[in-house]
Amino acid sequence: MALPLYLHPFLTLSFIFILYTQTSPHTSSPYTRLPSIQSRSEPVRISVTDFGATGDGIHYDTVPIQSAIDACTATGGGRVVFPPGKYLTATVFLKSGVVLEVQKNATVYGGTRLEDYPVEQNRWYVVVAEDAEDVGITGGGEINGQGLEFVVRFDVRKNVMVSWNRTGACDGDECRPRLVGFIRSKNVRVWDVRLSEPAYWCLHLVQCDNTYIHDMSIYGDFNIPNNDGIDIDDSNNTVITRVNINTGDDAICPKTYDGPLYNLTATDSWIRTKSSAIKLGSASWFEFKQLRFDNITIVDSHRGLGLQIRDGGNVSDITFSNINITTRYYDPSWWGRAEPIYVTTCPRDANSETGSISNLVFVNITATSENGVFLSGSKSGALSNIKFLNVDFNYKRWTSYEDGFVDYRPGCQGLVNHSSAGFMMEHIDGLEVENVNMRWFGDRVKRWNNPLDFRSASVDNISLINFQSNSYGQ
Ligand SMILES: *[C@@H]1O[C@H](CO)[C@@H](O)[C@H](O)[C@H]1NC(C)=O
Ligand SMILES: *[C@@H]1O[C@H](CO)[C@@H](O)[C@H](O)[C@H]1NC(C)=O
Ligand SMILES: *[C@@H]1O[C@H](CO)[C@@H](O)[C@H](O)[C@H]1NC(C)=O
Ligand SMILES: *[C@@H]1O[C@H](CO)[C@@H](O)[C@H](O)[C@H]1NC(C)=O
Ligand SMILES: *[C@@H]1O[C@H](CO)[C@@H](O)[C@H](O)[C@H]1NC(C)=O
Ligand SMILES: *[C@@H]1O[C@H](CO)[C@@H](O)[C@H](O)[C@H]1NC(C)=O
Ligand SMILES: *[C@@H]1O[C@H](CO)[C@@H](O)[C@H](O)[C@H]1NC(C)=O
Ligand SMILES: *[C@@H]1O[C@H](CO)[C@@H](O)[C@H](O)[C@H]1NC(C)=O
Ligand SMILES: *[C@@H]1O[C@H](CO)[C@@H](O)[C@H](O)[C@H]1NC(C)=O
Ligand SMILES: *[C@@H]1O[C@H](CO)[C@@H](O)[C@H](O)[C@H]1NC(C)=O
Repeated sequence: MALPLYLHPFLTLSFIFILYTQTSPHTSSPYTRLPSIQSRSEPVRISVTDFGATGDGIHYDTVPIQSAIDACTATGGGRVVFPPGKYLTATVFLKSGVVLEVQKNATVYGGTRLEDYPVEQNRWYVVVAEDAEDVGITGGGEINGQGLEFVVRFDVRKNVMVSWNRTGACDGDECRPRLVGFIRSKNVRVWDVRLSEPAYWCLHLVQCDNTYIHDMSIYGDFNIPNNDGIDIDDSNNTVITRVNINTGDDAICPKTYDGPLYNLTATDSWIRTKSSAIKLGSASWFEFKQLRFDNITIVDSHRGLGLQIRDGGNVSDITFSNINITTRYYDPSWWGRAEPIYVTTCPRDANSETGSISNLVFVNITATSENGVFLSGSKSGALSNIKFLNVDFNYKRWTSYEDGFVDYRPGCQGLVNHSSAGFMMEHIDGLEVENVNMRWFGDRVKRWNNPLDFRSASVDNISLINFQSNSYGQ
């Protein structure tokens, strides 16, 4: 039987020790404890084929898979094994103590019919754990949402997707199933697995505590809207490390809908996205605090590091360090205007509150981008105590998309016609810039030829130490 952690301090400690030694010491974090899935001397292993799964990719294996999970949790937990094969399934519910081991050459395919998913729209996942503890997914194989089957019309700018708006609980084309969800769960671990082609969001944490996501990859279609990588809602103590995300929409996206989000660390990862690589918000009704992002490479993305605070939640104590960013323009139907760094707080609409953003640090950042940094508080909620240290910006244009817009979306002032700048700033109280180097390459269009754009009436207490701006010709 899996026993509660508090009865077994030694077991817990030894498991954490194993995690540290087997993986890498870089996973330690000042904020986050590592989750501890129960170790046991002889974990139960149950194969889905023992319960009649065909693995032929044609027949639904839902019942055998669910029966294997139910049998595994009933014995106190262990592994449910998917040997090489193709497993087509409707929603499966992961239960406490169970780790899915999807082996190399095994792929779990989500069904593409509305009846493959539960009635309630917020439970539409291919794999979901609800109120579970000590759960995980691993094994070297793949979980695939068959996202391309949900495309109504292919379009290189942005595909048009189906909408399963049965209950009215979701808007228009956002009515599609997510791939993997952990809801109100504790001690979650996802590693050595590939999550592919979600129809909507890929990996979703909701009100979880103690989650460890590492050494895994996410692949989503570059033209599918809402193909987010990892969405972390209202969750505490999340560690993400050594992940590779290549997807259409926001790659790592903490949000607050019903409660705060504390202690998130994401390190040693690689990201490519047609939207924001890292985005806080835009759902931001509660606090975000103690988030750390370190050693991340962002390529070919529409926006690098983004804070899109719109609903009154306050943000503080966020550090971005050792990050290399390349951002470029894409079709403007995607939010983002090639900003390497984008920090905004404004009320979403007339009924929204304005959250504050304070104590942000950007250190050791290198960017090559088609647009500059945008820092914008709003009249009712300021940005304060923002620091840039050791930052190199290389500014050049290489796509033919139009520039000269400031993007406040979602909500607020929308897309506004305004010349671009190396740093565009408004409504800030306390900004320290130290060792910042801007290099401007090639011919600049008239509307992007300004290192700093701010007004002293709205930007107060700004200090520039060793700030350089150099121009390089053709
Ligand atoms: C955040 O991490 C710190 C340091 O590990 C810990 O003391 C604190 O309890 C954590 N916060 C939450 C909400 O778990
Ligand atoms: C996976 O499939 C490849 C190609 O068919 C094969 O070479 C390899 O041995 C298989 N690996 C496993 C673990 O089944
Ligand atoms: C979704 O369905 C509800 C009720 O079924 C309907 O009122 C609403 O207009 C639909 N919305 C969209 C965007 O299709
Ligand atoms: C996260 O921590 C905060 C502060 O302790 C707490 O209010 C909230 O309920 C926690 N959330 C979860 C999902 O445990
Ligand atoms: C940064 O992350 C990469 C993996 O993306 C890793 O290979 C490298 O060792 C990390 N660097 C440091 C200093 O930890
Ligand atoms: C944000 O901070 C302000 C000022 O301290 C406070 O009045 C407000 O309640 C906070 N908002 C939330 C959602 O906690
Ligand atoms: C950052 O990425 C660019 C483009 O991929 C590369 O040329 C540069 O060497 C990288 N810089 C650092 C500091 O890693
Ligand atoms: C920034 O880079 C310098 C030089 O490479 C290094 O000494 C320092 O530890 C880095 N700072 C952080 C916060 O990683
Ligand atoms: C934006 O404003 C500038 C200067 O007022 C003007 O020349 C340009 O045509 C405008 N662009 C658009 C797309 O409205
Ligand atoms: C200016 O801002 C810095 C932090 O960026 C803060 O330490 C300092 O107290 C502020 N000074 C004034 C006069 O507000």
